[in-house]
Amino acid sequence: MMASEILEKYIEFFKKQNHVQIVNSSLVPENDPTTLFTSSGMQPLIPYLLGEAHPQGKRLVNVQNCFRAGDIDEVGDNRHITFFRMLGNWSLGDYFKKEQILWFWEFLTSKEKGLGLSKDKLYVSVFEGFKNIPKDTESYEIWSDLLKKDELNPEERIFYYGVDKNWWSRTGVSDNMPVGEPGGLDTEVFYDFGPSANSGQEHHDKKKFGDKCHPNCDCGRYLEIGNSVFMQFKKTETGFEELPQKNVDFGGGLERLIAATENKQDIFQTSLFSPVIKRIAEVTKKEYEEHKEEIQIIADHFTAAVFMVSSNLFPSNKEQGYILRRLIRRGLDNFYTLGGINIDPILEQIVEQYRDTDEYLVEKFEHIKAVVLEEEQAYKKALAGGKKLIEKELITRGLLQGDELMGVVKIPAEVAFKSLASYGLGPTQLESLGYTFDRKELSELIKKHQDVSRKGAEKKFTGGLADHSEKTVMGHTATHLLHKTLRDMFGNDLHQTGSNITSERVRFDYNFDRKLTDEEIKRLEDTVNEKIKENLPVHFEIMNLVKAKDIGAIGLFDEKYSDNVKVYFVGGEKGSPTSDKSSSGRPLTDKPYSVEFCGGPHVDFTGEIKRFKIIKEEALGRSLRRIYAVVGD
Ligand code: ALA
Repeated sequence: MMASEILEKYIEFFKKQNHVQIVNSSLVPENDPTTLFTSSGMQPLIPYLLGEAHPQGKRLVNVQNCFRAGDIDEVGDNRHITFFRMLGNWSLGDYFKKEQILWFWEFLTSKEKGLGLSKDKLYVSVFEGFKNIPKDTESYEIWSDLLKKDELNPEERIFYYGVDKNWWSRTGVSDNMPVGEPGGLDTEVFYDFGPSANSGQEHHDKKKFGDKCHPNCDCGRYLEIGNSVFMQFKKTETGFEELPQKNVDFGGGLERLIAATENKQDIFQTSLFSPVIKRIAEVTKKEYEEHKEEIQIIADHFTAAVFMVSSNLFPSNKEQGYILRRLIRRGLDNFYTLGGINIDPILEQIVEQYRDTDEYLVEKFEHIKAVVLEEEQAYKKALAGGKKLIEKELITRGLLQGDELMGVVKIPAEVAFKSLASYGLGPTQLESLGYTFDRKELSELIKKHQDVSRKGAEKKFTGGLADHSEKTVMGHTATHLLHKTLRDMFGNDLHQTGSNITSERVRFDYNFDRKLTDEEIKRLEDTVNEKIKENLPVHFEIMNLVKAKDIGAIGLFDEKYSDNVKVYFVGGEKGSPTSDKSSSGRPLTDKPYSVEFCGGPHVDFTGEIKRFKIIKEEALGRSLRRIYAVVGD
């Protein structure tokens, strides 16, 4: 079954159960400082899982583009990929365990309405309890009744696992969750590829299962194809409290569902990836069977890069741009290792694979190619620069004189680390340049450096819009004022490309091709402060997309959907902002200053923001700028 077919069936199935399809949000999350990329379907829904009303109702369904940077080094084992599409359905305080389990089972097994997977290939896991959160016997019973009806033995099919496997939050197990984060226990379904699919890896959790294989074993025989999270808790200082509503957060990887329907244990051999794999093999004149790892890395990394570039990212040394840079360079390393020269045909084939579901990639293809090519040139320069730096270091240390550097040279680990820090050259690149070094020593240096960075990252995790702290909410409304003022100053082609708001500062990214002058920064600040002083009221209205566009709401709308959206007004009164009179007939003294498509939350009156000050304006990439500002006293 092709990707587009599975996707359509899934959306149709849940629409029939009264779900509304919501947009596939940007791969780069807006207003969420806790993570660089959207890594699951629930991420854009955090405020709604925490209790805010969603403009499109309580039953939602979609497909979400996701990227998981944590899996970069896992690629190469047949089943890990970094970019994937997650099918998701949600109950925001509506249905719960019973409906979810029954529907997902029907979707997986019904030939007519779903994927028609053979029931005896499916296994289930449920939560065995942790601390004061009890064992999920309710889900066990629901599954058990369901399996018995199909004459399957529940005892052989349902497995209890602990918090490390059957608990889900964005930050993993319950002990790792920051205060305010939602999470819950879950139940997962696994597809069994049969005993011959065992990759030879040792069975996981020998203590509990002995030498036997079981669904959560890492040997490759079983593949998790769907996770129903019963999101019912919020982390507090002392433990957990119940959320105001019991939610369902379901996610299933489309690529894994294809693998199950096609009974292909290797995701890269499915109909989605195999044409790309074939193309790489053709272009490099190498056999897939002999170079699986390299070919899988090339296919995965360039697929992710294509989607990132199409989301307006550029390679850089910071945050998302850095990850994109790493993917392209690692992809190129493997491509060159196999003897590849021109990456264009691979990019072409990737875009071809997604033509049915993501047509915009075709339109953006020239741009994608240009960005990858530019990065390839930059990488070649970095390799040359790294080589120079190493030679200089070796001469300074008296390890090399003149031009005697020939053949393979062993260099000190600190020198290797310097070239990594300055030019981004990792072990593979150093080796390709003809250097050897003590790998253990280098990895210790890297680890030391990462510990320092991690401390920074942990600090970053405090605050954030997901926490709805007062300062963050103030900053959020300030970005609406900033966005509107920038557009008034520079025209409506300018738009927000990202934002990241913590309780410490506001960060706002936008497309613009030059530095702002001091005079412009002052004018920008003054205008926003004027609007703060005017103490404008803020309110939202839920309206359909056509109307939102009609009244000139700012925002990136997806043309495919005509559903309801939430629109925030800064200034003006409730009612149509285009008319001169309010619904009571009283003339409107002020039209709204800013009208923007947004999930909230915001302050009630702009005066609460008190003050807006720009602290920095910088370039982020080609035609992309970033503003840092602070709000409050
Ligand atoms: N949010 C859950 C996941 O990503 C469904 O697995």
